[in-house]
Amino acid sequence: MTIRTLEGDGLTLRNRSVLAPMCTYSVTAKDGVPSDWHLVHLGARANGGFGLIIAEATGVSPEARISDQDLGLWNDEQRDAFKRITNYLHSYGAAAGIQLAHAGGKASTYPHLLEYVDSDRKGSIPEEQGGWETVGPSETDIHRLRSPREMTAEDIQKVIKDFTDAARRADEAGFDFIQIHAAHGYLIHQFLSPLTNKREDEWGGSFENRTRLALEVVKAVREVWPQNKALGIRFSGTDWVEEGWTIEETIQLSHLVADLGVTAIDLSSAGIGQYFGPMGPGYQTQLAAQVKKSFEGQDMFVTAVGFITTAEQAETLLMTDQADGISIARAALNDPHWAANAAKTLGVTAKEDPRAAQYWRGSW
Ligand SMILES: Cc1cc2nc3c(=O)[nH]c(=O)nc-3n(C[C@H](O)[C@H](O)[C@H](O)COP(=O)(O)O)c2cc1C
Repeated sequence: MTIRTLEGDGLTLRNRSVLAPMCTYSVTAKDGVPSDWHLVHLGARANGGFGLIIAEATGVSPEARISDQDLGLWNDEQRDAFKRITNYLHSYGAAAGIQLAHAGGKASTYPHLLEYVDSDRKGSIPEEQGGWETVGPSETDIHRLRSPREMTAEDIQKVIKDFTDAARRADEAGFDFIQIHAAHGYLIHQFLSPLTNKREDEWGGSFENRTRLALEVVKAVREVWPQNKALGIRFSGTDWVEEGWTIEETIQLSHLVADLGVTAIDLSSAGIGQYFGPMGPGYQTQLAAQVKKSFEGQDMFVTAVGFITTAEQAETLLMTDQADGISIARAALNDPHWAANAAKTLGVTAKEDPRAAQYWRGSW
């Protein structure tokens, strides 16, 4: 499978399985620098057969992180630590992707996993405990967090520049693929959704204004990201509420980002406020199917995600033309070898890397 690039032969994946980005909240992530833990975590899934591994939501600036245990890519130390990881992923046959992110009004929170061990430590980190001021399109309490400060025009320009600086470092770190995080109620999605964007200037109100930040970020990243490397984006296809962001708007925006050089779109959903959507196997894959259909006859790598756990479920989505690739998150936490095992289940010959063959063989 090849993801188209603007120049060159495209990004060829050994199969259609994608490790979805997952914040792992490793206590070893100090100041956004990936550690041995991240190398082992991502490397294990390269050994396990994934075609494309996307590193977790990585802050484009310190204040862009969801928590202080997130990764970042705003300095050279982080870039160099990522290089070790991309080298490993490449040496085991996987393409290396990174999700570049700004959490906006959902930044400065305790790492999600902490609340399972300490129920007092959830939500916004108070500033006196190391939390920081958050920013967003508008003030809001929809996330039941400390309200973000409404961004000025200068704040917005800084975010766009932070994305481009991070993209440049992602290239230097050896990544093949960037996924811009425009989903899950984080900054870019906060601008897209009328639920969180109440602005009355050129960054809010109409579809054209609400999508301006997403388009400016894509344009700016595309300028610095090499033309022979693929650029992707993750959308929340819908907020699942009538007054919110809709799948029709997502489709419209998908074509605008395609015009700017995006060749891969991943379709998740929700993230603004409370969840109102369906839940169950494949609960949101129809969003990918709708976007894919809108690109009929055109070259776009559309991936589905969400409660896809079995090889047969993934294969059905591909065979029925609902998606070009399958993003797997939680099932890959349970089984780092999800992709190689899926190949075995489906009876296809996985392209084994002899160096990881001890994992891939069905039996000894
Ligand atoms: C531990 C964990 C961390 C996650 N972190 C991210 C993230 O960094 N960026 C993102 O876009 N989605 C993130 N997600 C969402 C997943 O990428 C995925 O969309 C979601 O879990 C649904 O897929 P699944 O049913 O295969 O788990 C995370 C999910 C989990 C379980």
